[in-house]
Amino acid sequence: MAVFKTLLIALAAAANAPAAVVAFQHDPRATNTGLAKRADAYPFCNPATNPNCIAGGKYLVPILEFSSENGPGDLAYQQYLPASPWTFSKWTNGLMPERCYYWGVTADKWKATDFLVYNVTYTDCATPFVVCRHQKSTKSIGQLASVRDIMLASSLGQFVQNVFILTNPLGWQQIGKLPVRMRQASSIYIVYGDLNTDNPNYGGYMATLAGDGVVVGRSVAYFSTSLVHETGHAVDSTLASPGGGKPFSGTAAWAAAVKADGFAVSAYGAGSYVEDFAEAGRAVLLDTVVPGGLAAFTGGKNANLTQIAAQLKAFKAVAGTFYTPGGKCDLAKKFPFPTKLVKRE
Ligand SMILES: *[C@@H]1O[C@H](CO)[C@@H](O)[C@H](O)[C@H]1NC(C)=O
Ligand SMILES: *[C@@H]1O[C@H](CO)[C@@H](O)[C@H](O)[C@H]1NC(C)=O
Repeated sequence: MAVFKTLLIALAAAANAPAAVVAFQHDPRATNTGLAKRADAYPFCNPATNPNCIAGGKYLVPILEFSSENGPGDLAYQQYLPASPWTFSKWTNGLMPERCYYWGVTADKWKATDFLVYNVTYTDCATPFVVCRHQKSTKSIGQLASVRDIMLASSLGQFVQNVFILTNPLGWQQIGKLPVRMRQASSIYIVYGDLNTDNPNYGGYMATLAGDGVVVGRSVAYFSTSLVHETGHAVDSTLASPGGGKPFSGTAAWAAAVKADGFAVSAYGAGSYVEDFAEAGRAVLLDTVVPGGLAAFTGGKNANLTQIAAQLKAFKAVAGTFYTPGGKCDLAKKFPFPTKLVKRE
């Protein structure tokens, strides 16, 4: 436990450095179509311009269609991952976690008073997660919260919440669909508005600050496969880390697996070892939850799956247990509930 805490502090320091912010700020929806049209070379691989490229820029083809919202991979997660029921309560003490303030206000220039803060408690984890939700977020915890505020303490409030869970596939239960032993790698979700006019200073999409236990992004970015990818970064730097503040994706073991395969898991993964690890997580989770595994996911049409076999094996060896649905979070491993709080003003 002591070692783990030291690691978190080291990672927190790394996450505060501008380079790390750039490294984790990306668009995990992107597929390998339209590469030439993208202005940003990172994280896609162009070996001539991107020194982080792995496997010479080669990646598994036919691709695993797991990048876009409501694409085959996203739908498979929606279908096969059980949702953990949850309850939530709104903070009324005028405070917010210091990390929500740091990223949401100081770094990304949103207004502190526009955030509402919630505890979200899932039945598979004793301690809550925190959601710092900007009021411009188009996803529904706000609408639901206002309904619930009115109905507070009434059984109807719980009823409305249950109806919401059943009928709104884009709701916050998607966080609860992440296997809890993956989910425990983060403790805070920061959710922004979706329009550039909401905040012209913010041009990002979604990011993971693993050392802070933070997943942060626009509300449109909060869908299953995107959360699976982002949580992969959190797992990489905490639960799967060999220690010393190092992500597993930075180890010789991961480099050896990539080298043995000779192909990255996806075009996006070919951009760096870090991204490739998170992409491998998507593939491993599909392999675990889709009946028949990855071969069934591709409809038996991807004879090239052996090209990523060493990466899947290496990933499963360090993180397979976290990528399995069911069970409970382990409070000794869960990223701690934030205790450093500041005024929300
Ligand atoms: C399998 O991978 C090889 C090597 O990259 C490639 O030439 C081939 O087209 C791939 N197969 C299919 C069906 O795409
Ligand atoms: C949120 O959770 C923390 C930690 O369990 C608890 O101390 C706090 O009272 C909770 N706040 C609300 C508003 O539920």
